[in-house]
Amino acid sequence: MPHPAFTSADYSAIGVYLMTEDDWQAGGGGLSHASRTFGEQQQFTGKAGQLVVIPDSQGQTAEVLFGVGNAKDQLATAALTAKLVPGAYEIRHRPETWSDEHIAAGWADGAYRFDRYKDSLSQPPVLQISDAGALEAASVEAQAVDFLRDMVNTPAQDMGPEAIETEVRNLSAEFGAEVSVTVGQDLLDANFPMVHAVGRAGPQPPRLIELSWGDEGHPELALVGKGVAFDTGGLNLKTGNYMRLMKKDMGGAAHAAALARLVMANKLPVRLKLYIPAVENSISGNAFRPGDILESRKGLSVEIDNTDAEGRLILGDALTLACESDPDLLIDFATLTGAARVALGPDLAPFYTDDDALAAAIASGSAEVGDPVWRMPLWSPYRAMLNSPIADIVNAGGPQAGSITAAIFLKQFVDAKSWVHFDIWAWRLAKYGRPEGAAACGLRAVFRMLQTRYA
Ligand code: BES
Ligand code: MN
Ligand code: ZN
Repeated sequence: MPHPAFTSADYSAIGVYLMTEDDWQAGGGGLSHASRTFGEQQQFTGKAGQLVVIPDSQGQTAEVLFGVGNAKDQLATAALTAKLVPGAYEIRHRPETWSDEHIAAGWADGAYRFDRYKDSLSQPPVLQISDAGALEAASVEAQAVDFLRDMVNTPAQDMGPEAIETEVRNLSAEFGAEVSVTVGQDLLDANFPMVHAVGRAGPQPPRLIELSWGDEGHPELALVGKGVAFDTGGLNLKTGNYMRLMKKDMGGAAHAAALARLVMANKLPVRLKLYIPAVENSISGNAFRPGDILESRKGLSVEIDNTDAEGRLILGDALTLACESDPDLLIDFATLTGAARVALGPDLAPFYTDDDALAAAIASGSAEVGDPVWRMPLWSPYRAMLNSPIADIVNAGGPQAGSITAAIFLKQFVDAKSWVHFDIWAWRLAKYGRPEGAAACGLRAVFRMLQTRYA
């Protein structure tokens, strides 16, 4: 099924010309003399974000000129889709470095509407993709990104640990996978003490969700995602501004699940394992406290310095479990630290790995699909920032290098051939003509790397 933002063929499709400033100046794009003149009259120059709609003699939209500047923003069509009126469109000119894939990814990005609580949103325009393979690939990718964004945009009242479980069960049913879930008190019997400790004060019981798919003879790919349905900070309560967006603290889980979706939909030859610890970091008389010392699945004792550093705790147990079956590759996604945003800002997804070949492969994937990520250092001397006088490790490393010490904390629970950790935002601000809300960060880069690795 094509994604609703795409169509196979429509003979009445409106022509779209994606013009760089250079292309426009050189008179390129194969525009008619009249269209060119109309553009000039509207003072179109090809500057990023400029939009000129050219009418025909009946006053209907005939052609669209859209400026893409120097063509560096490969998802620029998102800003176009957010503005176009409903209808079918086809790309008649594009920057030479842009593939169908890039254009489709941007198109779907701008065509996305979160309409669960508001049905008066505009209908998105539809992009014609004539090649059947390209249409299918673009649709599968856009569906995964929409799935992620819907999960993250949904408020915690409707995306608690139970609903996260339901999302994984639905995914499993769609692709013939298997799911098992350990809930509440059973977490203690099954030895996931940190998942239990973080989630036990929440209104819904904490849980560890596991999905398995694919031939057991294939190399094992393990995905782990932080599923904090809402992060109040716990007893180290966040203040208003910092809590405001914390419905998105299950963004890592949404990324891991969306990546699982891409793997299954594209039938990658792997044995897939998805692990989501799903909890709410809440407050009540039985909440875990600063100063408590938690047992972990790994056997390390963890002193709680700050109950707001909760993601690394639930991930610690999940990562330990993921390593028990010795995966070929282990990937985790987590909205782990505010410090990651301080370091790299809103648009770049930081990642950590000791595997140089993997880092290079992720960088290539990133460049190929136009999904920006940046490698950060697992600088081992900073392990000392996590020293506790009375436990094996403390859960918060002080005011400096917060994203790095969080990654180093996770590393203590990992024993894998190859591991990469993404400290993502899962969100974006209204910028470049795109609306604010949930966003996929590094998802497409990682999937491209996986496609190459397991081709
Ligand atoms: N979920 C937050 C991190 C976060 C905050 C991500 C804002 C994206 C935007 C995480 O659980 C957290 O609270 N981290 C603390 C860690 C600190 C207490 C060591 C942080 O980053 O302040
Ligand atoms: Mn927190
Ligand atoms: Zn959190």
